[in-house]
Amino acid sequence: MSTIDAVQSPADEERRRLLAHATAAAGGLVLAGASLPFVASLRPSERAKAQGAPIEVDTAMLRPGELKTVEWRGKPVWVLARTPAMLSSLESVRSHLTDPNSTVVSQQPEYARNPTRSINPELFVTISLCTHLGCVPTYAPEPGSIEGDWPGGFYCPCHGSKFDLAGRVYRGSPAPTNLVIPPHQWRGGSLLVIGYDAADAPA
Ligand code: FES
Repeated sequence: MSTIDAVQSPADEERRRLLAHATAAAGGLVLAGASLPFVASLRPSERAKAQGAPIEVDTAMLRPGELKTVEWRGKPVWVLARTPAMLSSLESVRSHLTDPNSTVVSQQPEYARNPTRSINPELFVTISLCTHLGCVPTYAPEPGSIEGDWPGGFYCPCHGSKFDLAGRVYRGSPAPTNLVIPPHQWRGGSLLVIGYDAADAPA
């Protein structure tokens, strides 16, 4: 460094101070600009979190045989109050089903992998989208309402898939698997929480 370079006038001092401020401000802008994509990238995940949030369904007023439809994650979900006759039909149709024990393809949480595919046999919860191409099946609980030996169940009019009242698919249906059971739990007997796994519930 030369002697001349080392000598600083008051005017030089002021220029250097202004330059330092300008550099700091520019750095801040660059940093803010770099942060924008990061903030923007948070937004969709926040939105996704809200869309995937658990929902609560009060089933206290559901009468035996009644079906209630709610929406979770943009999908229709059925809650069916099964009658004793409906529950006994689950046993009598077993030999006509593709996967009566839901073991070939798991379409339910572990706590719903049982003969009624439910936590509480009287209250059945399932995503009501046909596993063929995603149509919403029809609730046809009356025996004989679809065909002569129809025991009652869910019928998909799109291509004729049939499901029993536990969402198990009948052999010969185009739908390859049983209906999907979403993660859920019951609180206080009649309050259903869909999207919150029963396995996570406090003991
Ligand atoms: S979508 Fe249900 S049978 Fe095809």
